[in-house]
Amino acid sequence: MIRIAPSILAADLADLAGALAVAERGGADLVHVDVMDGRFVPNLTFGAPVVAALRRRTSLPLDVHLMVADPDRLFGDYLAAGAARVAVHLEAATHLDRTLAAVRDGGAAAGVAVNPSTPVEALVDVLHRCDFVLLMSVNPGFAGQSFLPHVLDKARRLRALAAAAGVELSIEIDGGVTLANAAACRAAGCDTLVAGSSLYSAPDPAAAIRELRQAALQETP
Ligand code: DX5
Ligand code: ZN
Repeated sequence: MIRIAPSILAADLADLAGALAVAERGGADLVHVDVMDGRFVPNLTFGAPVVAALRRRTSLPLDVHLMVADPDRLFGDYLAAGAARVAVHLEAATHLDRTLAAVRDGGAAAGVAVNPSTPVEALVDVLHRCDFVLLMSVNPGFAGQSFLPHVLDKARRLRALAAAAGVELSIEIDGGVTLANAAACRAAGCDTLVAGSSLYSAPDPAAAIRELRQAALQETP
């Protein structure tokens, strides 16, 4: 099983409805929404009212990636806006155990996102609270950066940790995902691929979503 989550950060931001339509036409499983606050990361993007507006325009589940300082304070607004999945950064959350439980109580899938430099072993005491872990394969802040290959080893280690803990965990990988590395991501244990530039910069973005899924399903050498 593989899920494709187009990241609308890389789409034409003046035409978000068009970006959602492309995701639907291409058979995407989720729509990835990068929330940036200008503090945890330099960029500033989508507030909760934007997520509520997106929710009204698509039936696809919204996968909200909170790249914000103090996510414990903000996640509730995004749940109320209709997020189906909420990921908070390990590096930014103060009361991670409580926040993950509250996301689940709010009816969404709960996730922890980790920067490329954060070891997955730091997740061992919250895995039982997680529906998914989001492994950043670029440093957060911008679309269009190059994939950091050491994150594949993190995915393999995380798979082993989840198996040892008896937790059924979804692993999402985010940043620099392309046709060239999709199969390696899946082989390393990732089941959800986020992709921005490689989809929305393609001549036919809906076809690019289908091609990325096919590429991910190829056997790796
Ligand atoms: C980066 C974001 C990513 C980004 C992915 O901070 O979290 O979701 O939009 O875009 P690409 O695929 O262009 O790296
Ligand atoms: Zn993201």
